[in-house]
Amino acid sequence: MSNYHIKHLEEYYQVYRKSIRCPEHFWEEIAEEHFMWQKKWNNVLSWDFSKPEIKWFEGAKLNITENCIDRHLATRGNKTAILFEPNNPSELAEHITYKQLSERVNRFANVLKQEGIKKGDRVCIYLPMIPELAISVLACARIGAIHSVVFAGFSATALSTRINDSDCKMVITSDGSYRGPKTIDLKGIVDEALESCSGVNSVLVAKRIHSGINMQNGRDKWLQPLLDEASIDCKAEIMDAEDPLFILYTSGSTGKPKGMVHTTAGYMVYTAYTFKNVFQYKEDDIYWCTADIGWITGHSYIVYGPLANGATTVMFEGVPSYPDYGRFWEIVEKHKINQFYTAPTAIRALAKQGLEVVEKHDLSSLKVLGSVGEPINEEAWHWYNDNIGKKQSPIVDTWWQTETGGIMITPIPFVTPTKPTYATLPFIGIQPTLMDENGNEIKGNQVSGRLCVKFPWPSIARTIWGNHKRYKDTYFSAYENKYFTGDGALRDEVGYYRITGRVDDVIIVSGHNLGTAPIEDAVNEHPAVAESAIVGFPHDVKGNALYGYVILKDVGETRDHNNLRKEINQIITEHIGPIAKLDKIQFTEGLPKTRSGKIMRRILRKIAHNDISNLGDTSTLLNPEVVQSIIDGKKNADNTNW
Ligand code: WTA
Repeated sequence: MSNYHIKHLEEYYQVYRKSIRCPEHFWEEIAEEHFMWQKKWNNVLSWDFSKPEIKWFEGAKLNITENCIDRHLATRGNKTAILFEPNNPSELAEHITYKQLSERVNRFANVLKQEGIKKGDRVCIYLPMIPELAISVLACARIGAIHSVVFAGFSATALSTRINDSDCKMVITSDGSYRGPKTIDLKGIVDEALESCSGVNSVLVAKRIHSGINMQNGRDKWLQPLLDEASIDCKAEIMDAEDPLFILYTSGSTGKPKGMVHTTAGYMVYTAYTFKNVFQYKEDDIYWCTADIGWITGHSYIVYGPLANGATTVMFEGVPSYPDYGRFWEIVEKHKINQFYTAPTAIRALAKQGLEVVEKHDLSSLKVLGSVGEPINEEAWHWYNDNIGKKQSPIVDTWWQTETGGIMITPIPFVTPTKPTYATLPFIGIQPTLMDENGNEIKGNQVSGRLCVKFPWPSIARTIWGNHKRYKDTYFSAYENKYFTGDGALRDEVGYYRITGRVDDVIIVSGHNLGTAPIEDAVNEHPAVAESAIVGFPHDVKGNALYGYVILKDVGETRDHNNLRKEINQIITEHIGPIAKLDKIQFTEGLPKTRSGKIMRRILRKIAHNDISNLGDTSTLLNPEVVQSIIDGKKNADNTNW
């Protein structure tokens, strides 16, 4: 019996137990029956979390694009693979069939080869949400080049750090992007980034906004003329199961971003299998995930997972607020979306707009609603359930990470009874556990602890590019023989999981993971700043917002504080991107420090949260008196509008 599509709760428990009792046998069956292999594996799984080393389907040969494209051509050649909805609603949507996708990916792959890109080379993709983004990702995979997509909202500095970290040889970008009513000069950002990237010798530029841009002779080429000349046939490179498919950067609590490396076969099997079940995708459904392909959600659940299932996947270029806050619902109605997958921050922002914009649209096509990226609060959950799903479409609150590659804890719609704010049960093959601070596993229900995973799953990231030690230290050192997620969670009386949030210095703002250290580094670049500390505080739309405590070099600084605040945010925008801007900045004369000189963020967090009744023991601080002065000074941050 195939366990590929789970339809009942009993079946879920049965398949789950099987996947835990005999993981190798279970995943072998899934892999064997549902994918196209050039050669089968010699060994399903070998693993050792102490090294850490994890290998799935070792010895197998395949190309993921044959699974995402070629094998559908006979039966789904004329089916829409990618449905592109442009930023401007008056521009026509584009339906790209599997046949057209095949031709466009092959042409692009041939261009990459012609430009000297070979198997194993890293290619940085810095594009807006236009078809070329998905196509270039697949073109890299076609020839075995490792793609590193950088979200096109990152700044030049952030882009160059990522390009250099993985020695990308090429950058693929566009002459600009549309974002609601604005245009953004992406190529200008690339030019600036490349001033400090000596390894990049070729830049391919897609036309999107038709702006006059600078093209550097010998380095920059317009993409379209090259594509026009290229052949529509390109033989897929035969890859090993464990060959890297892509690198995707995610923020750590300290240091530079981590280039998570995902490999080919396990990632393909797991994203395809989760997609099918978590969204209960049926052949003619139209599926829409509103994420950007610059994040893992877009990689796994706009591109690879849906296409591996021969699905129709929507790519939306714009923003939820343009031309007005009804845009999402207009698109749902226009394309008769069946599965809709978005983030709590978007749900909260849309809920604020009231129901009028929702009620104008026919949302009856919706069958499944998804949520991802941060905990969904109860109010947002109910709003989504009542007004978008009309209590008919189950909400799948999917917990997972860039590092996990695919969805880990989630309801299966129409199978798992949902519960507001709970991601509910582990997906097939996933063995979560909660750990206490002493490193013991917490058994039983109605408990909380740090969320770990005890056994490998096929799409776990295999390393951090160029830094295996950091991979080990970050994920496998906190608890012996376990993958540590960095999240806290609780398990209720029936074994449902609720993710409570990060337990490290990563702050999730509007669903984007931000490490505090790089933002503090940026703030400290301001010539007037001596030191800074950044914490998160609750925000009704973004989930969390950033609060900066800043010590100025000159205590008697006479310049206008609001101007300084603006300048600090300007620097953050230049170093990281606008997503990392601070909502509040408090100028202070000191920061609470331990005797060893470490900033006590716990105290700063509580003050930012207005939770000062229980600050804990501050007497061991090096400078206990500073705490009261920070509390007193908080009003200057709270009362300023800038
Ligand atoms: C958080 C996004 C609660 C969590 C796929 C995790 C969530 C981090 C959920 C990873 C959820 C993601 N409920 N928290 N359903 N989904 N998170 O790498 O803290 O961008 O560790 O991957 O987002 O974010 P990342």
